[in-house]
Amino acid sequence: MHITMIGAGYVGLVSGACFADFGHDVVCVDTDAAKVASLRDGKIPIFEPGLDEIVARNVKAGRLSFTTKLGDGLAKAEVVFIAVGTPSRRGDGHADISYVLAAAREIGEAATKPLVIVTKSTVPVGTGDEIEKVLAGVKPKAEISVVSNPEFLREGAAIEDFKRPDRIVIGTEDERARDVMASVYRPLKLNQAPILFTSRRTAELTKYAANAFLATKITFINEMADLAEKVGANVQEIARGIGLDNRIGGKFLHAGPGYGGSCFPKDTLALIKTARDFGAPSRIVETVADVNEKRKTSMADRVIAAAGGSLKGKTVGVLGLTFKPNTDDMRDAPSLAIIPALQAAGAKIQAHDPEGMEAAAKLLSGVTFCNGPYEAAKDASALVLITEWDVYRALDLDKLKAALLAPSIVDLRNVYVPAEMAAKGFRYVSIGRPAV
Ligand SMILES: NC(=O)c1ccc[n+]([C@@H]2O[C@H](COP(=O)([O-])OP(=O)(O)OC[C@H]3O[C@@H](n4cnc5c(N)ncnc54)[C@H](O)[C@@H]3O)[C@@H](O)[C@H]2O)c1
Repeated sequence: MHITMIGAGYVGLVSGACFADFGHDVVCVDTDAAKVASLRDGKIPIFEPGLDEIVARNVKAGRLSFTTKLGDGLAKAEVVFIAVGTPSRRGDGHADISYVLAAAREIGEAATKPLVIVTKSTVPVGTGDEIEKVLAGVKPKAEISVVSNPEFLREGAAIEDFKRPDRIVIGTEDERARDVMASVYRPLKLNQAPILFTSRRTAELTKYAANAFLATKITFINEMADLAEKVGANVQEIARGIGLDNRIGGKFLHAGPGYGGSCFPKDTLALIKTARDFGAPSRIVETVADVNEKRKTSMADRVIAAAGGSLKGKTVGVLGLTFKPNTDDMRDAPSLAIIPALQAAGAKIQAHDPEGMEAAAKLLSGVTFCNGPYEAAKDASALVLITEWDVYRALDLDKLKAALLAPSIVDLRNVYVPAEMAAKGFRYVSIGRPAV
C-alpha cells in the first residue's frame, strides 16, 4: 500500500519506518526542513534504539522517503496518517490540536482522489469530527474518511512495541476505511496482534484512558513508597507482592520521582479538561496529576537532607536527565523540576546523561555538563540518580566514593542495593526503602 505519514517525529518516524519494513511504500512529510534534510542524509534526528537500521534498510529498498512537500507525499497515497504533536495548550492544559487541524487542511487542499485520513496523534474525543468540518470547508465533495488509530508505543522500545503491539485500536464506522485499515495492519494481524475496531470517539478516548490509568498506577505506588518509608516497609517488595496478582500486574509499579515524558503529563491534563467540559469530572486523574507535579519538586528535599540539611555553596552531581532511559527526549522530564529546585537551594549542578545533554542544555541553565558519571560526582556533596540508564547500574563504587566530597547518594530509581551501599560506606537514600 502507499502510505503518507505527516510528521516525522518520535511516532511518525517509527511508524513510517516500521510500515515500510512490513513492505508498504511510505513517504514521510515534515515541515521541519532541517529534520528532512538530515533524514535524507541518512542521519536520524532522535535517539531510538534500532531505528537507524530500519530507516537505512527501507530507504535503500526504495520503500521509505522523506519530503517537506505534502504534494509529493500524496501523489500515490491511499491512506494518510497524521502524527504531528498535540502539546498542552498554553494557559489551560487542553490538548492543542492546531497542528492536527492544519495538517488536515493541507491534506484536504492537496487531495486529488479518495483518501483515508488517520489520526495517530493523541487527540481529544471529537477531534475526528473537527477534522471532517475542516475538510468540508476546503473540499466538500472529496471522498475522505477520517479514522482514529491511537499509538501506544513507548519511546526507548518503540520498534518492538510497534511491531508487536498488545493491541491495535481502530476507530471508524466506515466500511471502506475499515477495509483500508485492515490492509495497512495485515502484517501485524498475521503476527496475531489483536485488532479492535471501535467507533471513532471510543478510539480517541481509549488512548487517554490508557495513559491516565498507567499514570495512576505509577502515582499509587509512589504514595505507597512514601508510606513504606514512614512505617519501615519496602516498596519494591510490596510492588512484587501486589504485582504478582494477575488482576494488578507487575508493570508500572516502580516507585520513583514521578512520571514525566512526552505523553503522561499532557495527556492526563487534557483528559481532565475534557472530562470537566463534558460534565463528568475525573477526580482520580485530577488528584494523580496534582500529586505527581508536587512529587517531582519534593525530590529536592531528599537531596538537601542527604547533603546535611543545606546545599548552600555545595555541588550536587546528577546522573540521568531524560524522562526515562534509552531516549533523548527531555519533555516534562522530572530532572527539569528537580534541578531548578536544587539550584534554588543554593547548589551548583554537575550533570551527565548518555543521550540527553544536548536537549537538556536548551532547557536548563547554570548546569555543567560532564563527560561521564565520575566527572559528575567529582567533589560533590551528594550524587542524585534521576534516570536509570544501564550505564549507571554497575558503577565502580570505590571510584565513585573517591570522586565525591561526601559519600551521599540519593537513588530516585532504586537501582542500587542498600546493603551493598552501606557496606561501601555510603550514606544511601532511595525511594520507599529503609535508608542506610
Ligand atoms: N512520543 C511518544 O512516545 C508518543 C507515543 C504515543 C503517542 N504519541 C502522540 O503522537 C503525537 C506525535 O508525538 P511525537 O512525540 O512524535 O511528536 P514530535 O514533536 O516528535 O513530532 C511531531 C512532528 O510533526 C511535525 N509537524 C508539525 N506540523 C506538521 C505539518 N503540518 N506537516 C508536517 N509535519 C508537521 C513536526 O515538525 C515534528 O517533526 C502526539 O500527539 C503524541 O501525544 C506520542
